[in-house]
Amino acid sequence: MSSSGYSTGTSRASIQNVEGVIMQRSRRELLKAGIAVGASMFLPAVRLHAQGSPLIQRKIPSTGESLPIIGIGTARRYEAVTTEADRAPLREVLRQLPELGGKVIDTAPSYGTAEMVVGDLVAELRIRESLFLATKLGVHGRDAGIEQLERSFKRLRTPMIDLIAVHNLQDPPTQLRTLRQWKQAGRIRYVGITTSFERQHPEFEQTMRSEALDFIQVDYALDNRKADQRILPLAADRGMGVMINLPFGRGRLFQAVQGQPLPPWSGEFDCASWAQFFLKYIVSHPAVTCALPGTAKAEYLVDNLGAARGRLPNAEMRARMERLIDSV
Ligand SMILES: NC(=O)c1ccc[n+]([C@@H]2O[C@H](COP(=O)([O-])OP(=O)(O)OC[C@H]3O[C@@H](n4cnc5c(N)ncnc54)[C@H](OP(=O)(O)O)[C@@H]3O)[C@@H](O)[C@H]2O)c1
Repeated sequence: MSSSGYSTGTSRASIQNVEGVIMQRSRRELLKAGIAVGASMFLPAVRLHAQGSPLIQRKIPSTGESLPIIGIGTARRYEAVTTEADRAPLREVLRQLPELGGKVIDTAPSYGTAEMVVGDLVAELRIRESLFLATKLGVHGRDAGIEQLERSFKRLRTPMIDLIAVHNLQDPPTQLRTLRQWKQAGRIRYVGITTSFERQHPEFEQTMRSEALDFIQVDYALDNRKADQRILPLAADRGMGVMINLPFGRGRLFQAVQGQPLPPWSGEFDCASWAQFFLKYIVSHPAVTCALPGTAKAEYLVDNLGAARGRLPNAEMRARMERLIDSV
């Protein structure tokens, strides 16, 4: 990760700088020629930047591999898929994900039909090579762990899973031992641990101190900021990638701002929706590698990936965002 914590495939900062210079120069040259310049003359360039720019990427600390800072989560809406009508919108999300530059899908064996639906659709769409598949291991005991792992590989229909994390601290010493053996064998690329419960944070922190992990996954949202006190700084210190679950607090944040317009200052960090407001807050934390909003509709995918484009809020703006949410 760069010292600012940000990196992009083609350097977001330099793209912005180049665009800024071109716009300033054109404006100056036109003014010099005595031509009145309306803001609308420059809109196409701005729109082009917003829609056509690559997604901001962050590096996984243990390898330097880059990931887009927004992925998708598959809890709930992928859990009880039985009919083609249930499946169709999810197919559309997965079809568009790599087309729009996205990559990371988070799932788990405990999410009902989710692993199976993801596996089937990824195979049908032939997009495995474009994705970073993350699942979890959530049982106690070595044999039960191996059985669950084998089932995940079958359901996800892939010989290699990018990341498997111990789910909600279920037997980390035993399961991490197995995961590392499978990593050694080339079946897994990264290992980690997850939680989404504040009561688990002390044990989570302890495990982060005692184990070498590629990734942690933790709950963090504009109205749930506990993780930034100890867990996120510790992840940065220990060189661990960070995935964020429950970035909207399961939709709680949308309810909190229901009926309210976005504040005008959110334009200073290129925010076009509340979803982008909430996600940009998360991914502007320099320790965060990517956020995983639950995404089961194509329109949400386009919206959420928009949070990985344009400017991100600085420290001052982040404090302003916190004040806003604390006041509603
Ligand atoms: N311990 C763990 O490891 C753990 C625990 C929890 C979650 N997770 C992971 O984290 C992911 C995220 O959590 P989550 O899905 O439960 O909650 P979430 O992402 O905080 O919120 C999902 C809710 O946000 C809504 N939404 C998504 N995009 C939107 C948009 N652009 N505009 C308006 N509403 C939008 C969804 O609407 P709809 O209801 O209309 O779809 C859904 O109700 C999970 O899917 C899972 O992969 C991991």
